Amino acid sequence: MIDVIILKNGTLVSPEGLRKADLAIKENRIFLIAKTIDTSPEDEVVDVAGCWVFPGFIDAHTHLSADIGTMTTSDTFATGTRAAVCGGTTSIVDFATQDKGMTLTQAIERWHEKADGLSHANYAFHLAITDWNDASKAEIPSIRQAGVTSFKCYLAYDALKVNGGELLDILEAVKPFGGMMGVHCEIGEIINELQSRELSLGHTSPAAHPRSRPAETEAAAIDEYCWVARLAGMPVNVVHLSTALGLEAVRRARGKGQIVHIETCPQYLLLDESNYERDGFEGAKYVMSPPLRKPFDVEVLRQAVREGEIETISTDHCAFTFGEQKQAGLHNFTKIPNGAPGIEHRPALMATLFEKLGPGRLCALLSENQARIFDMYPRKGVLREGSDADITVWDPSQQWTISQQNQHQNVDYTPYEGFNVKGKARFVYVNGILAARDGEPTSAVAGTYIRR
Ligand code: URP
Ligand code: ZN
Repeated sequence: MIDVIILKNGTLVSPEGLRKADLAIKENRIFLIAKTIDTSPEDEVVDVAGCWVFPGFIDAHTHLSADIGTMTTSDTFATGTRAAVCGGTTSIVDFATQDKGMTLTQAIERWHEKADGLSHANYAFHLAITDWNDASKAEIPSIRQAGVTSFKCYLAYDALKVNGGELLDILEAVKPFGGMMGVHCEIGEIINELQSRELSLGHTSPAAHPRSRPAETEAAAIDEYCWVARLAGMPVNVVHLSTALGLEAVRRARGKGQIVHIETCPQYLLLDESNYERDGFEGAKYVMSPPLRKPFDVEVLRQAVREGEIETISTDHCAFTFGEQKQAGLHNFTKIPNGAPGIEHRPALMATLFEKLGPGRLCALLSENQARIFDMYPRKGVLREGSDADITVWDPSQQWTISQQNQHQNVDYTPYEGFNVKGKARFVYVNGILAARDGEPTSAVAGTYIRR
């Protein structure tokens, strides 16, 4: 029986710097970090020379087993987290979404049913509140007791959105325990109007999608959100920022002294709206909200990452198959299920795009900042004795090509088909158990609920 796993000769990564050291894992914790750790015959010794040893990557924005009313995402907790660990992600934060008429407690219970015992990666839940009333308000203390400290509200999608007054009330309700709110910032009413106009002109193809959700709808929503947050006196998070105009709105609020965290996603850093013009119905693969933007926006967001204005990169992984599920919108772009896959490829894509920033910044963008903002630090997000043994051993020298053929995400395409990337997860440990090796899963299903 192996008692201790020792990762030998690696380079340990943190935003503060790199250090050559050995790391010992005992049960589900980091047991010892030292320049050299003596080994004994009972230990499992893994030589990780030439590799970067990261605290496991955290994807704080996923939609697994998510029911959107007409269909359910193609990745479940079983398949989605299996793909996640193959790419180097050891923890996710998924959106437990309240349907109208459902209690908040029921939403959390439902998400536990979807995830418990099936997850290859650890999982926490943001609670997405869609039906706010006195009864749901009264549930907030028990939601905190259930280990949930982060929340989401939508300002778009008729079935999900809350109004400004409700948003204020929700922020104030979670303030006593420092709850972190992330808001989907698009003004739904304007989008509804623009969608109707496109359809009335006979514009039914995916090319109409970005026109119906212009940058102004994101920026206006961010402005509203920031003003409401200021009234509530709360630090907040803007999820999936996609535009330069939206960034300006955050800068305005930050300029007045507000704490506004920003998340963006690989798709807004690597892809642009020209994808909606692809032949046939191919553009549907890129229908997500907010939509892909102009090359100018892509460049501005990249620069904001480099400058440290954007603190986290997560995926908004929300997979629907092209061959079947996306076809629902063949004759009407508003019926195309919104979302795209990415949970498996974020680390390699971002390691490649931001190679010059170095591994320390990658550590902050993909792991430490998520852990800090979402109440998991220092249990996660750092290599420290006593922290959870969620570890991604990354080989920066490997080069490979992303393809639907070699992915584990349960979906029949990837928006990054043919992308050449540099770096690969060599060993991925979840709670001290080897969950993936060289981009392939082991048989372990080692993920547990992250009670915050
Ligand atoms: O298109 C997307 N992103 N679908 C998932 C729901 C959301 O907006 O977060
Ligand atoms: Zn999302």
